Amino acid sequence: MISEESESGNDTVSLVPANKENVDTLANLNAVLFPITYQKKFYIDCLACGPYTVMAQLNGSIVAAICCRLETHQDLGVRLYIMTLGVLAPYRRRGIANALLGHALRLAQQDPRIVDTYLHVQLGNEEAIAFYRSNGFELIATIKNYYKRIRPADCFVFSCNLRNWQPRNSCLNHA
Ligand SMILES: CC(C)(COP(=O)(O)OP(=O)(O)OC[C@H]1O[C@@H](n2cnc3c(N)ncnc32)[C@H](O)[C@@H]1OP(=O)(O)O)[C@@H](O)C(=O)NCCC(=O)NCCS
Repeated sequence: MISEESESGNDTVSLVPANKENVDTLANLNAVLFPITYQKKFYIDCLACGPYTVMAQLNGSIVAAICCRLETHQDLGVRLYIMTLGVLAPYRRRGIANALLGHALRLAQQDPRIVDTYLHVQLGNEEAIAFYRSNGFELIATIKNYYKRIRPADCFVFSCNLRNWQPRNSCLNHA
């Protein structure tokens, strides 16, 4: 199923929701994008959160994905946790990550249960830090030794107040 589609020049970008049938494609993409091998529980959470987890298809090939989880916190309420967001290197700086993030945050804004969104970024991942800052995320914490198997082990926590979030330009017309 294709949820949103746009043509820009000769390129056609579509968002494809993750489901049981295509979850292996998502796992293969993440294996290329990230130095961590995500286990079965990660993908169970991805599918459990419904339409938040989507892949981006460019001219028929899957080139990017955002993986999300919904977390219920006793004091805060429901938070949208962005587990991963990645775009294959040749397809970066075309607004594809903006489109994926925009899709998830727009859905979250429409869900009155969700209070905010947050994520972890490895220290030194300047591309991701620049990306999230450009989308209105704020640095709220630094966690020492967060990662067990990759170096540097420390991470930043970024958060975004959904009430103030505004979509940025993306490869999708309205994302
Ligand atoms: C971070 C990442 C997802 C961004 O994807 P992308 O599709 O290139 O991002 P976009 O084209 O939507 O960029 C949107 C904005 O983010 C900022 N940005 C993105 N990449 C940037 C970079 N390398 N340097 C500086 N700013 C950057 C810019 O403001 C950009 O807008 P502009 O192109 O109009 O200047 C991509 O670099 C990636 O997949 N990295 C590897 C995986 C990863 O580390 N993911 C994050 C942790 S889970």
